[in-house]
Amino acid sequence: TTTPVGIHDLSFATTHYALDHAVLAERFGVDPDKFHLGIGQDKMSVAAADEDIVTIAAAAAKPILDRHGVDNIRTVLLATESGVDQSKSAGLYLHPLIGLPNTARVVELKQACYSGTAGLQFAAALIARDPSERVLVIATDIAKYELDSPGEPTQGAAAVAMLVSANPAILQLDPYSGLYSADVMDFWRPNYRTEAVVDGKTSVNAYQKATQEAWTDYRRRGGRDLTEFAAFCYHQPFTKMAYKAHRHLMESQSHTADAAAIDAAIRDTTFYNRTVGNSYTASVYLGLASLLDHADDLAGRPLAFISYGSGSVAEFFSGTVRPGYREHLRTEANRAAISSREPLGYDRYRELHEAQAPTDGMYHATRAETSRPFRLAEISGHKRIYEAR
Ligand code: CAA
Repeated sequence: TTTPVGIHDLSFATTHYALDHAVLAERFGVDPDKFHLGIGQDKMSVAAADEDIVTIAAAAAKPILDRHGVDNIRTVLLATESGVDQSKSAGLYLHPLIGLPNTARVVELKQACYSGTAGLQFAAALIARDPSERVLVIATDIAKYELDSPGEPTQGAAAVAMLVSANPAILQLDPYSGLYSADVMDFWRPNYRTEAVVDGKTSVNAYQKATQEAWTDYRRRGGRDLTEFAAFCYHQPFTKMAYKAHRHLMESQSHTADAAAIDAAIRDTTFYNRTVGNSYTASVYLGLASLLDHADDLAGRPLAFISYGSGSVAEFFSGTVRPGYREHLRTEANRAAISSREPLGYDRYRELHEAQAPTDGMYHATRAETSRPFRLAEISGHKRIYEAR
């Protein structure tokens, strides 16, 4: 028999600010229901001047290290598509902030919103090789689209950190999964841009096709039947996307796809994403956090995961919730991370959106704004200097 491997602990962090979609609706001159119902979003997290993917990653990962220590963490995989350096892994900036061990490999992974799942699967493989090792997987992103573009209401930011180990307390991964990759130009970000380029309609169609293909591969590899799952955690660029993709998948397999059945499969996964917005690599795992924090007892129940990264790679995988998982959740901290955000006015939002990082190598102090545990203090000599608050 093989050792069970999966998610032993999961912790989430988001930014200091939240922008309400009612503010954006007024600015766009549209009915707020276009956002609340049409795309299924109420608010979006927005980074303060002294926050980035490193500060939110540190805030997500620290509670895990506080609870479990760093012994036998020999790999740290940081997934992001909004990285701060083209060469150095963002995970290395975490070393002094949260006390990562020196006896670990630290690597950044990139494939749009998919790479957190790559991290989880690579972690599972490393642990299968040596079950005494543990892997810290961190998915961290700030989603940014052009002002006044259709993508703007689908911005957001969050980090999810997961401790992956043998005999996990929360979720045991199934040993099979379904894959689909294809070259599609639906969403991308050239090196010279801070905002993503997106073909919205193409991206929605590409997501749905990739989901169906990954599902087909999952079944070929011996995966479970669609009717077995207690819930489906989809990548959520906006929460309505999960509903759309699930209806599409169920109908393609001639399963019941009435509104009540779709809602029962998806609803509990959407509470956090609805108010945080797109967190790219973290989104599907924020969906898992929402599900675990809101659903009735899931012990022993199988869950489905659909991870999609534009460009594109999709993976359909599954796992079983462990008995006693509830004692290991961080429900209160998760809710506090969301409810403690400061409401952001439109003018400051616009200033933050338009601010450019300095490129001259001189000393630049960062405006002190965030109330979160870590901040970007300065950019100086082309170096980003972080501090604990
Ligand atoms: N009340 C209720 N619903 C309303 C409404 C109202 N008053 N007004 C409009 N709606 C509905 C529309 O009917 C539509 O519903 P359907 O999708 O069911 O048809 C929905 O609101 C959205 O309206 P539009 O189609 O007019 O939306 P849009 O042109 O503003 O663009 C979008 C939507 C394409 C998703 C855009 O937000 C976008 O480009 N987002 C970024 C790309 C993205 O998130 N793609 C997702 C797949 S790719 C991926 O998943 C990777 C990733 O993370 C980026």
